[in-house]
Amino acid sequence: MFSCYLFLFISLIISFRDVHVSTSDSSCTDNPVFTPSALVLKYGDPANATCVVCQKDCRGTVFGLEHAVGKVTGHGTTMLWKVDRLTVWDTSLICYYNTDAGDQCSSILDITIYQPPESVSISFVNHTGMMFENQQYTLQCSVQNVAPVQSLTVTFYRGNTALGHLQSNSEQKKPVNETFTLNITPSREHDGAQYWCETKLELGPAGPQRPPVVTSEKLPAIVHYGPELKEPPNPDVITITEGDTLHLNCSSVGNPSPSYTWTLPTNSPFYSGSVLTIKSVGFEHEGQYICTVSNTVGTVTKEFNIDVQGECCQILPGKRVTEDQS
Ligand SMILES: *[C@@H]1O[C@H](CO)[C@@H](O)[C@H](O)[C@H]1NC(C)=O
Ligand SMILES: *[C@@H]1O[C@H](CO)[C@@H](O)[C@H](O)[C@H]1NC(C)=O
Ligand SMILES: *[C@@H]1O[C@H](CO)[C@@H](O)[C@H](O)[C@H]1NC(C)=O
Ligand SMILES: *[C@@H]1O[C@H](CO)[C@@H](O)[C@H](O)[C@H]1NC(C)=O
Repeated sequence: MFSCYLFLFISLIISFRDVHVSTSDSSCTDNPVFTPSALVLKYGDPANATCVVCQKDCRGTVFGLEHAVGKVTGHGTTMLWKVDRLTVWDTSLICYYNTDAGDQCSSILDITIYQPPESVSISFVNHTGMMFENQQYTLQCSVQNVAPVQSLTVTFYRGNTALGHLQSNSEQKKPVNETFTLNITPSREHDGAQYWCETKLELGPAGPQRPPVVTSEKLPAIVHYGPELKEPPNPDVITITEGDTLHLNCSSVGNPSPSYTWTLPTNSPFYSGSVLTIKSVGFEHEGQYICTVSNTVGTVTKEFNIDVQGECCQILPGKRVTEDQS
């Protein structure tokens, strides 16, 4: 039974506290009026508010302004509340008077006290800056000593691209530390990109004109990916005339930079460049060339089949006709 009353009592307190500026008695027709109607203050700042208890004459009744901090001075039914330095995290003012009928009319002014984050930092969860393409990683934005965290919006960025907005579920009014996480799956285009997070305290129209913004440092991303050939695949057989110059282009991109090894048809010296050049092709150069490109992530190969033709055989009927005409 006691716990039942306790529950009712707590529920009443909660519902009471949820009201911004309100009356406790709906039969009240002349409610006390606060100016400003909402207060949003930075922790440690000075503040003031005025309450006009009633519009009609209520000087004969009992009235007052309940306050946990600051001082109240009055001129009749107008009361001024003032504090030089607001150093509490959760407070409100209650302005009230008793009606002739014995009821009480009151209004509450909730005071939102904010503090921009002391620090904002970004990191990977359980990971250093190196990533592999198409794998999932978790970014973490750590925010320290911010209040009220409910008004905070956290945005993750890659370069100038916003990746996601996050908010806290906490209703804590005192400063808290909170981390926000976002999963990312990088691709090779994101190699060298910088990740960062931005926090913004959005305190509504009664808050500061420019919402306080605090950003993290920038976290560079290294995205590792396997080699990819730059040039399209070759025709099955590359035909070249004896004495001409042959370029076999195996240029590839990859991170880390790939290395090249060539398997050649003859017992030629070891070669490890991306483009194989033979200045003057001879028949001994005929055959299969295989280029193997690899880095720590993967390996690709490219095949070149070279057919060398003698100069004599290159003069095809069509070509001869052309030459005859000139
Ligand atoms: C009351 O607060 C407002 C807004 O901060 C300020 O402009 C004004 O000077 C203050 N008045 C007094 C009497 O402190
Ligand atoms: C990070 O790694 C530790 C140890 O391997 C593990 O206990 C923890 O749950 C991991 N945290 C996350 C967020 O994955
Ligand atoms: C937030 O973190 C800082 C640094 O770790 C610590 O000093 C502070 O007490 C923490 N605040 C809360 C509310 O936990
Ligand atoms: C090889 O191919 C790459 C990519 O297309 C190109 O940039 C480079 O100039 C080529 N090299 C030669 C020698 O043809």
